[in-house]
Amino acid sequence: MSAEHRAESGIPVPAVAGPDDVRPGLDERLGAPGAYPFTRGVYPTMYTSRPWTMRQYAGFGTARESNARYHQLLAAGGHGLSVAFDLPTQMGYDSDEPIAHGEVGKVGVAIDSIDDMRTLFDRIPLGEVSTSMTINAPAAVLLLLYQLVAEEQGVPGAKLTGTIQNDVLKEYVARGTYIFPPRPSLRLVADTFAYCAAELPRWNTISISGYHMAEAGATPVQEIAFTLANGIEYVRTAVAAGLAVDDFAPRLSFFFVARTTLLEEVAKFRAARRIWARIMRDEFGATNPKSQMLRFHTQTAGVQLTAQQPEVNLIRVAVQGLGAVLGGTQSLHTNSYDEAIALPTEKAARLALRTQQVLAYETDLTATVDPFAGSYLVESMTDEIEAATVALIDKVFEYGSAVDAIEAGFQKREIELSAYRVAQEIEAGERTVVGVNRFQTDDDEPYEPLRVDPAIGAEQEKRLAALRADRDDPAVRAALDALRTAAAGTENVLVPMKAALRARATVGEVCHALRDVWGTHQPAERF
Ligand code: 3HC
Repeated sequence: MSAEHRAESGIPVPAVAGPDDVRPGLDERLGAPGAYPFTRGVYPTMYTSRPWTMRQYAGFGTARESNARYHQLLAAGGHGLSVAFDLPTQMGYDSDEPIAHGEVGKVGVAIDSIDDMRTLFDRIPLGEVSTSMTINAPAAVLLLLYQLVAEEQGVPGAKLTGTIQNDVLKEYVARGTYIFPPRPSLRLVADTFAYCAAELPRWNTISISGYHMAEAGATPVQEIAFTLANGIEYVRTAVAAGLAVDDFAPRLSFFFVARTTLLEEVAKFRAARRIWARIMRDEFGATNPKSQMLRFHTQTAGVQLTAQQPEVNLIRVAVQGLGAVLGGTQSLHTNSYDEAIALPTEKAARLALRTQQVLAYETDLTATVDPFAGSYLVESMTDEIEAATVALIDKVFEYGSAVDAIEAGFQKREIELSAYRVAQEIEAGERTVVGVNRFQTDDDEPYEPLRVDPAIGAEQEKRLAALRADRDDPAVRAALDALRTAAAGTENVLVPMKAALRARATVGEVCHALRDVWGTHQPAERF
């Protein structure tokens, strides 16, 4: 709703602070909205001209079931799609492999082939939506499947918008869905940057994530420092591979958490933008402002949801979502109140979206830019977080590179220590968790969670058997051999990979071909 409409409807419209509303001294240090160092936001007008993208993460069961949920979310007013994949897909295994048993369709949708991808986006015009895919080690595989389905819809690559998470470094630190060792993984990321710069120029090639490290216990400073250090590693890798920084950096993006401590979170986001802008300009010589902008997605803190009195989570999520918006997020996922118990029900998922719609259309948050600019508290917290983050990034690179620090276990150890401290504070009652260590109640209403049909595995196995019986196997084998050859050499692996997927090679077969050449990551055991 524009400011004019808001005024007509009686909603108060504060003066819009924009690029020409600059006050000497503070504003010169802060910069104007949409200008270097982007402390106040990446766009001059921010939400006054376009609210953030309401992008609810969803996916479970078969492609058909997830497709139905996507149509529900789009019909309920969601702006963008965000695909959750099941663990076998995230780990590059097919649904009919023994290792996949019991996990097929559980924490996300099972995607084994181009057939499943076609079903997942059935009747969704890929030229008109932006789609985020939370996929890391096999991100290039799922991106190419998405492009192949778009080509079948007649949508050219240049029109596709969306994001692949593609951030394997944080997987070694906090989540564990890695496949290949760090060096070939970084090569694959650089190949993906190069491929997208040429074929998919509007696609965000990576979502460098702090969220999962935060959920594992990282403090705000650790979340930002370890994420930006990983970002530096990716940029260094791409530049070393011969890519010009302004050719790929505009399509880097980030992903952070929003905790309930919203004032600190606003300062965190503002500090992160300022640090990244300076790194890209001063270390990498980026001159395109889009290369210096830290654009990010936010998800509210899942780890702060409680199973006790789950309705209280509605209030936590609203506060966290408020913090993300006050901090200038570009895209937002608000958690469902029942997620501490099970996959969200349709009603809970709708309530989560409604939370964003209240923030966007009933408050006056979108009437101005960076409301906390000039605030004594938030500006001083921004400065403090910035200084501590820069110092911690320096500590990471004392190991040589972010990968060296990861392999030494530095980030993982620091995060585990922070998690332990928080657990002790909750245990001691020094940190309040409403309903858990204070204000408990024993009259929780009965709650019926969403249940995923365990027969999904069998259904996927049937689909795979049908696919394998109905394709040109010699062509698939030849395409997979070409992929192995590229992986062993220096050719961009996405080109032969796309040919294999078009021939209906499966996600597992493509990843196994790469495993044959690159091996798999074996974490150094540290005690
Ligand atoms: N002025 C001018 N232009 C504006 C504008 C403004 N005020 N607001 C938006 N725009 C333009 C932008 O420039 C952009 O145009 P472009 O594509 O040509 O550059 C377009 O409008 C869209 O705006 P954004 O790019 O800001 O918003 P998007 O929503 O498209 O992209 C993003 C946001 C952060 C850059 C992108 O990377 C994204 O969508 N990320 C989402 C990642 C995600 O959903 N991850 C889910 C993870 S869940 C997970 O990990 C598992 C679980 O366990 C946590």
